Amino acid sequence: MTPKLANIIVIFAIVNIDNLIPDLMELKERKQIALLVGSLRKDSLNRKMARVLIDLTPDTMDLEIIEIGNLPLYNEDLEENTPREWAAFRKKIKEFDGIIFITPEYNRSTTAAMKNALDVGSRPYTHNVWSNKPSAVISVSMGAIGGFGANHHLRQSLMCLNAPVMAQPEMYIGGAADLFDEHGSLTDSRMEELVHKFFRAYSRWLCKFVE
Ligand code: FNR
Repeated sequence: MTPKLANIIVIFAIVNIDNLIPDLMELKERKQIALLVGSLRKDSLNRKMARVLIDLTPDTMDLEIIEIGNLPLYNEDLEENTPREWAAFRKKIKEFDGIIFITPEYNRSTTAAMKNALDVGSRPYTHNVWSNKPSAVISVSMGAIGGFGANHHLRQSLMCLNAPVMAQPEMYIGGAADLFDEHGSLTDSRMEELVHKFFRAYSRWLCKFVE
């Protein structure tokens, strides 16, 4: 029984990315990549996807989930006495070479938690931590359109924040309720191959911005 993947994944590209991504590019040093997960739910499908990415990380990168659920809601008045969670988050993000955003779709947008993290990292004015960080966006949804709206809303903010976001492959992962078994492992090895393709493309993207 092989046809299921077509039901659970809505991805990709109007171009054949295999032609664009010959090999995993050689990065001179291992790159440190932050993973931001838009869902705060303990059984989050997006968090499961983040863990799959960590398991399948190529040896050119280290991936680390950076928590965003503890960040107080952005309020510019608080900058007079910056909350320590904001300061720690900003400092931490600056240390990374790149960012992978994994988001659910909430009402055709990314989540409030993810948007709050973007806003916190974007201030104080001229201290935007997202600037020049080579980024990628993955959306994971139970729905059929794979969080397309969330994916693109997030890209819109990242454009404003001067984060260069990888264009292809677009990762809209739909029908995600069937994507993982009870241990959080992928139920279909073809999804694993798509994750490898994603990493090959992201590795190439990183090479454009970092040594
Ligand atoms: C949703 N969900 C949802 N799904 C979708 O495909 N498009 C949407 O616009 C929305 N809107 C939405 C709003 C709110 C407030 C909630 C709580 C949920 C469903 C959502 O994609 C689903 O719950 C995912 O499983 C959430 O991701 P995590 O928490 O599993 O990572």
